[in-house]
Amino acid sequence: MRFYILGFPKKFTPFVTAALLLLIAGTASSAAEPQALPTPEIHRIADIFQPLSRPAELLLEPTHLVLLICLGIFLVVMAVLVYVLIKFRPRGPEDHLEEPPQVYGSYNIEMAWTVIPCLIVFVLVLVSARSIVEIQDQPMPEDAIQIRLIGHQWWWEIQYPELGIITANEIHVPVSSRDGKPRPTHIILESADVIHSFWVPQLAGKTDLVPNRVNHTWIEPFKTGVFLGNCAEFCGTQHANMLLRVVVQSPEDFQKWVENQKQLPSEPKDVIAIQGKKDFYDLSCVACHKIDSTPAEGVFGPDLTKFATRQTLGAGVAENTPENLHAWLVQPDSLKTGCYMPDMKLSPQQLASLVAYLQTLK
Ligand code: CUA
Repeated sequence: MRFYILGFPKKFTPFVTAALLLLIAGTASSAAEPQALPTPEIHRIADIFQPLSRPAELLLEPTHLVLLICLGIFLVVMAVLVYVLIKFRPRGPEDHLEEPPQVYGSYNIEMAWTVIPCLIVFVLVLVSARSIVEIQDQPMPEDAIQIRLIGHQWWWEIQYPELGIITANEIHVPVSSRDGKPRPTHIILESADVIHSFWVPQLAGKTDLVPNRVNHTWIEPFKTGVFLGNCAEFCGTQHANMLLRVVVQSPEDFQKWVENQKQLPSEPKDVIAIQGKKDFYDLSCVACHKIDSTPAEGVFGPDLTKFATRQTLGAGVAENTPENLHAWLVQPDSLKTGCYMPDMKLSPQQLASLVAYLQTLK
């Protein structure tokens, strides 16, 4: 009787056993590696049916209308399909041999299936055009907050030109009021590389960030809190991890945030952090990152002047904690495959000091 291991004949047994042993050894050595990276928190995409800001509110009614029309079309098509499938099903083994009667030139049917879709499309175009014009023509008050939002592969640069603030991946705006004074935020959209799309479902519909073009949108949230958004236009490998947060604050909290962002971070006092500051300038971090009033002037990566005040790192890929920052610096690719921040091959001492220094940037 023949003997099989995993379906191989007995004469192959020594090779199969050796392959299995190698496989087990390989698994054991990779499992024994000390580098256990934390799993980044996964954020749910917010609901367009629960808008908490204009212009998302202005889009709710047209969205319902479009969905209702599409649902109607779906039901009619499905009903006709099911009717045809049942009524004209084969009724015997000979049934399919005979060609069914061919119908040509029915004026009524052809008119119906041309005119009705044209009318439906016309209604949808009018509804969309009205919403677009309504949102585009919205006058902004003189004191509206101005933001310049620049899309990069794969993060968001955020500038407040009037306030002199530059940050990344986390927009802060004041809450508006329906009865009192409106506080909308005007957002100028640009791109540094490819087409991206700004989308914070509960605040506003999508608007693209197109290279060599300036687009505009605005938000006017009526509720405080953190609103999750994301890039809504495929822009490369890490498109899915180009996340955005909008932190809507009370006017007082927003003012506090502005004051803090304008102040330079205090000098590190801790020995390890002082070493980290030195390492930051000795390594090539400065080529890509900017820290105000220091020799770090790079603009390819996010501005780090107030890095420690931000909730996430890697454009929302992980919570901004010392552990995640450490994992990010060990190998940015492990949290965000294909990202443009290189693995700097840092020594454990450099890692510890850089983490300590970056934590002081607040
Ligand atoms: Cu940026 Cu997708």
